Amino acid sequence: MLLTEIDHVAIAVKDLESAIDYYKKAFGATVDHREVVESDGVEEALLKVAESYIQLLTPTRPDSPVAKSLEKRGEGLHHIGYRVANCAEALQSMVDAGAIAIDKAPRPGSRGTTVAFIHPKGSFGTLIELVQE
Ligand code: CO
Repeated sequence: MLLTEIDHVAIAVKDLESAIDYYKKAFGATVDHREVVESDGVEEALLKVAESYIQLLTPTRPDSPVAKSLEKRGEGLHHIGYRVANCAEALQSMVDAGAIAIDKAPRPGSRGTTVAFIHPKGSFGTLIELVQE
């Protein structure tokens, strides 16, 4: 089994502050990490749950993929991050199994991770992110 943990569940929201507030009020959650990832055009807030995170995600510019997703599908579940020991190995294994890679090779993600995205087509409708810490 190549997956070692559910790294994060990513939820696309229009207003990051409101979403953080809601999770604070509803669950007593605190923000563990916050980061703007300019290359992806997103700002994210990570709320730690045991060894995993809830990742609240909002676009920083209108042409970012998350902005397009919000436009098309509205707010809600955006992708799931699966933690792996070796991103390159897991990516190759998925491609061998018929997955469609969005990233042909692993690249830097938030909080110093190495990541690769897999297209929902070919993965039963779920956008998958492989995350190596
Ligand atoms: Co993610």
